[in-house]
Amino acid sequence: MSLFDPAAPVAAKTHSHAAYRYPVGLEGQPALVTGANSGIGRAVALGLAASGADVIVNYIVDPVAAEEVAHTIETAGRRAMAIKADVSNEYDIKSMFARAVAYYGTLHIVVPNAGLQRDAPIDEMTLEQWKAVIDVNLTGQFLCAREATREFKRRGVVSAVSAAAGKLVMMSSVHQEIPWAGHANYAASKGGIMQLMRSLAQELAPFAIRVNAVAPGAVRTPINRPAWDTPEAYRDLMTLIPYKRIGEPEDIARAVAWLASDASDYVTGATLFVDGGMTLYPGFATGG
Ligand code: BGC
Repeated sequence: MSLFDPAAPVAAKTHSHAAYRYPVGLEGQPALVTGANSGIGRAVALGLAASGADVIVNYIVDPVAAEEVAHTIETAGRRAMAIKADVSNEYDIKSMFARAVAYYGTLHIVVPNAGLQRDAPIDEMTLEQWKAVIDVNLTGQFLCAREATREFKRRGVVSAVSAAAGKLVMMSSVHQEIPWAGHANYAASKGGIMQLMRSLAQELAPFAIRVNAVAPGAVRTPINRPAWDTPEAYRDLMTLIPYKRIGEPEDIARAVAWLASDASDYVTGATLFVDGGMTLYPGFATGG
């Protein structure tokens, strides 16, 4: 017997974000978000700005979209700058952090979010597909975490601004926990993020640097469009989600803003699953 009923009604759940007010104050805390030109990264950049932060909007493709995010943030009264950098490139990341610190004086919040998928059955997966995913999803977060740590340690705690010297909110996935047939490179990268995050949290807590992760489930973004953009796909997806709606990028942004704020000051080394309960079901997840 199945532990859940795939035929359970899919309520026509809608979710409005328009009226949502971010409860946390991030004023005076410059932030950097990678992959902030689209999807979850874009929502996180906007959510941090709505919480009071100034934001570096990192991108690698689509400068127009990145500038649009930066412009939206500026229109709302915060400072923003779009910076192109390949997160898997050490030189790019060092230069981006140097520019960010030169611009804002420091950084308090870093969200290494950029990620991609290159799906293939294992016997067809090329080394190029494997490396592309590990380089961006795992090495990219390592490089950002390292530069962030250097700046957080250099500055130390400024208690008028935040109880912590810095906050890293890493982007994981439900697939740090749920194995994902046909996506072994992606699942391996996110499993790696879990232990990277936990090890850094342990190492950096004595420096008042908090390190946590958000693990999204299925979220309405371009990375998994085939999983939600037809009624049939959406219905199939709902069999995997107890909460019976797809996640919206803003669902993730709210969790990130909370983990970046002093509201979560005693939280470090945690993965916050934001997945409508997907990790509560047995079986496997899906996506594009
Ligand atoms: C993947 C999506 C997928 C979701 C749930 C995410 O991490 O990027 O493609 O739909 O996990 O399976």
